[in-house]
Amino acid sequence: MIKCDFHKYTSKFISGIDKSKFNKSEKKASKEILSGSLAYWNDINSFVSKDELNAIMNVANYVRDNCDVFIVIGIGGSYMGSKAIMEALLPTFNKGKPEIIFLGTDLSSNYYKEVIDYIKDKDVIVNVISKSGNTLEPNIAFEIISYIMKGKYSKEELRDRIIITTDEKDGSLRKLANEEGYFTFNVPKNIGGRFSVFTPVGLFPLAVAGIDILTLLEGFMSGGEYIPLAIDYAVVREALYKKNKYVESFTVYNSKLYYFTEWLKQLFAETQGKEGKGILPISNVNTRDLHSMGQFLQEGHDIIFETVIGVENSDVIKIAKYDKTLHEINRIAQEKVCLAHYRDKTPSLVIDIETLDEYNIGQLVRFFITAAIVGALLIDVNPFDQPGVEKYKKLVNEALNSTYIF
Ligand code: PA5
Repeated sequence: MIKCDFHKYTSKFISGIDKSKFNKSEKKASKEILSGSLAYWNDINSFVSKDELNAIMNVANYVRDNCDVFIVIGIGGSYMGSKAIMEALLPTFNKGKPEIIFLGTDLSSNYYKEVIDYIKDKDVIVNVISKSGNTLEPNIAFEIISYIMKGKYSKEELRDRIIITTDEKDGSLRKLANEEGYFTFNVPKNIGGRFSVFTPVGLFPLAVAGIDILTLLEGFMSGGEYIPLAIDYAVVREALYKKNKYVESFTVYNSKLYYFTEWLKQLFAETQGKEGKGILPISNVNTRDLHSMGQFLQEGHDIIFETVIGVENSDVIKIAKYDKTLHEINRIAQEKVCLAHYRDKTPSLVIDIETLDEYNIGQLVRFFITAAIVGALLIDVNPFDQPGVEKYKKLVNEALNSTYIF
């Protein structure tokens, strides 16, 4: 269950704003998402079919029984969602078997060397994820890992150890899968990377990790009831932007949600940051960051607002000194920090989920995906492209295909 308060810690900052000004675009956006050309977002079959779901669970079971290390290769939307949910829901220590390693998110030789040495004597299965099939970083990761695997496994064995998630028809990965007979999952045509966590892109690695993907999907679908709330959230963000709040901190009070804030940064930056528009997303993990960023949020340049994501119920650890549980103290900190920030320069929109579990995370993902899309529609930018990302790719590719000297 999601509970929101977009009023208590924002009201004085948006008092002069006539929210009815947004009525027309808000109505248009909600019509689009509820019944218009974006209504497919409310149909689970747009994300994953029943057959695919069965295949995901069967292959995931096979992977769990047949390797020490499962390598997930992908960048941006191809890995962020599953990484975020794993970090939120799996135990921090002793995550279980197989060990899951993410690769293809950078070009650090130091990190690659460590991975290469680490997997040398281990049984490995790899899932390469790229919608386009043409992205530099995952392609390089796959080249390195498949080189190592070819030294260990026969052509036949590789067919049981390389799983490709890509477009149904296009791209170099699809071509390779067709040629080599590798097992594939499809990325649906109309669901872009950053929205794809509940397609095979995210569901398959999550199933390998032992996360209950059926309950995640159940939460995601039931999250439909929060669409009006997500639209409201998008409108309040926009009102704050009109009051020169150009930066949004996704602030959590639970370090297990750190990667969730990373996913949020990607979701909002790529969906809305274009044509000279958009709110710059940053993140804070409290109470840690109160001892660094907290100073700026309290007294620095007044361009920031916070979206605070809290968890209502958690494990019980008694702190005798205060006769309270650790969680109660954390909740008090969340409340009082919102108040302190509000008294100075920083408004907060507060979103609480009931508990940190599959169902609630499913709902939260639905809430934020809806808000990101609606927010883009409110500022009149295309939520589904990322032309800026293509610019660096083009320059790097040109340099790689020429005699570029460092
Ligand atoms: O959200 C997006 O579309 C991007 O972040 C992509 O996921 C990212 O660029 C990776 O693209 P691809 O899956 O084509 O390798």
